[in-house]
Amino acid sequence: MKIRIDKDRCVGNARCAAISETLFELDDDGYIAVTEIDVPPGMEALARRGARACPEKIIEIIEE
Ligand code: F3S
Repeated sequence: MKIRIDKDRCVGNARCAAISETLFELDDDGYIAVTEIDVPPGMEALARRGARACPEKIIEIIEE
């Protein structure tokens, strides 16, 4: 599983990081720091929750 994030549209809600700071790393200004994440085994549920938590709906789950 991968996560793809439309970083340019991030407004810094930080709801994703509230679900998992490990998966959804923020930069010093509080915006998402990454555009693509390989989800480690066992973290799939957190990935899905993080994606759902973003009010901007810019986090996409790519099932493999
Ligand atoms: Fe940005 Fe959405 Fe997270 S706006 S900081 S990707 S909750």
